[in-house]
Amino acid sequence: MSIAVITGASSGMGEEFARRLIAEKDGFPGAPFDEIWLIARSEEKLTSLSEELDPKRCRVVPLDLTSADGIARLSSLLSEKAPQVGLLINSAGMGKAGAFASQSLKDVESTVTLNCTALSEVTHVVLPYMTSYGDTLPKKNGPRIINIASSAGFLPQPDFALYAATKSFVITLSRALNQEVKPHNVTVTCVCPGPCDTNFIKVSKNDPNATFTGFKAKFVTTVDKLIPASLRAAKKGRSMLVFGFGQKMLHLASKILPTNLILFFERNMK
Ligand SMILES: NC(=O)c1ccc[n+]([C@@H]2O[C@H](COP(=O)([O-])OP(=O)(O)OC[C@H]3O[C@@H](n4cnc5c(N)ncnc54)[C@H](OP(=O)(O)O)[C@@H]3O)[C@@H](O)[C@H]2O)c1
Repeated sequence: MSIAVITGASSGMGEEFARRLIAEKDGFPGAPFDEIWLIARSEEKLTSLSEELDPKRCRVVPLDLTSADGIARLSSLLSEKAPQVGLLINSAGMGKAGAFASQSLKDVESTVTLNCTALSEVTHVVLPYMTSYGDTLPKKNGPRIINIASSAGFLPQPDFALYAATKSFVITLSRALNQEVKPHNVTVTCVCPGPCDTNFIKVSKNDPNATFTGFKAKFVTTVDKLIPASLRAAKKGRSMLVFGFGQKMLHLASKILPTNLILFFERNMK
């Protein structure tokens, strides 16, 4: 059985990946997938997405990835079904806006656990089902991992400090892992978007009506642009996609300018 696994599938980018992948014919090994595993906490949202897309091919896997038994349940489902995983998309993530000291201890813990620990552990339990599959496939046509990082991970971000740090973690892990799994024909694509019009900002500010403001508002993109570009990058086997002109400039600046100078601009652009 060939499958794709998507975390964060109940909303935003993960949901859009599911919509695109249900129609995917042959762009990834195993496509069209026998099953697409949809992972998030909200069973209701996942079930309604599955019913809309194709209940026979979508498997609803309601899990809290920050809980102790979330990963264990995914691991036992994998060992029970023994699938060939052609695509893993790590999209579940969160970040709370505001000064680090003003955040609750619970939010600090959830941010690090979801963005770093859960992403690492999901990848760790799914990977054996990708490498064994990749070993049987023609070179360069192996399984793909898409990790959603962020342009926030390029630089320290005062008032978004913890989130930015977790996304630096995702970038560094993804790029090294891409080298490690190459011999097994598996490719890791790290996607770095800027602001995107999803529930992320609402969760970030604890406000159902929140939108991006200030400088970030000028660079807001949408999932219908970002997700096809991410899938294309993964198919081509690119190790990194920095999405959008503004984010590309930020990436370049982070490579060539002193960090203190960029922090000075960040402070004065608020
Ligand atoms: N939107 C942006 O501006 C932006 C920019 C750069 C990068 N990103 C990154 O893009 C990724 C996708 O975010 P998005 O924009 O699509 O935001 P979103 O609409 O808020 O989606 C977040 C997803 O993560 C899931 N999730 C949250 N906590 C979870 C948990 N404990 N266990 C399992 N699933 C959990 C949510 O589902 P449930 O609530 O049902 O669990 C939801 O499906 C994230 O990694 C985010 O950091 C976002």
